Amino acid sequence: MGNCSGSEYNRTLYEHRYGRTAAEGFAIIPGMSSQARRGRFITFEGLDGCGKTTQLEKLGRVLRKEGVHFVATREPGGTPAGEVIRNLLLDTATVGLSPWTELCLMFTSRVQHLAEIIDPALARGDFVLCDRFTDSTEAYQGGGRKLGSEPVLELHRILCHNLQPDLTILMDSDIAASVERARRRNQARIEAGEIDEGRFEKENRAFFGRVRNKFLEIAKRDPKRVFLVDARGTPDETHAKVVEAMRERLKV
Ligand code: TYD
Repeated sequence: MGNCSGSEYNRTLYEHRYGRTAAEGFAIIPGMSSQARRGRFITFEGLDGCGKTTQLEKLGRVLRKEGVHFVATREPGGTPAGEVIRNLLLDTATVGLSPWTELCLMFTSRVQHLAEIIDPALARGDFVLCDRFTDSTEAYQGGGRKLGSEPVLELHRILCHNLQPDLTILMDSDIAASVERARRRNQARIEAGEIDEGRFEKENRAFFGRVRNKFLEIAKRDPKRVFLVDARGTPDETHAKVVEAMRERLKV
């Protein structure tokens, strides 16, 4: 998945994992017309290697079983232009990027993602499952790179019409174990001839400590939106908690 375009990423998830394409139709929320309401926006957040992508896919399978149409996507990336930006941002060969450039590139990818994928899907009434969103920018660039929350939140207001997810699954995990897992995964990717996505994974423990603290600060600030889940259990245990949170909070 590392070097595919945004639309390929969406297609991959739809056709290979869920057996349908995004173009097939609108979200069907039982008992509810797709015209009656905007779709639901669910984001997955956490440290590198915390298991977000697995949880996103598992939740996608639950929604599919229930006839809810959804788009599964990711940031940075999710569109053809965004995937080019993703490669630049994550490639270990990219050196000397200023933290502000990094911040701008995250938002460049996001603005296109909103215009091309997220906003239209929500307007159709689809669910959107998104692997990372602005909370990651606040945690990594605001916390990790020490730019602070304020410029991130301000840019989000200006550039992203301040769109807030209906639900954010924040997976809390051990720094060392998560980052080690992400590094191993990246190594396997390199050995398979795919693009090296290890630029953030090379950061030190103090960086990831700041990222984690910022995520926890966001969860405290916005407990209605953010569901903080301990991701140290098995994937199935975490999945059961995620499904329960979705049902409780979104009445799905
Ligand atoms: P991702 O592919 O989700 O990494 P992983 O699967 O290892 O969790 O995200 C790519 C990297 O980009 C990750 O290290 C976090 C970073 N990132 C930011 O620094 N800021 C952002 O706004 C986003 C969306 C991601």
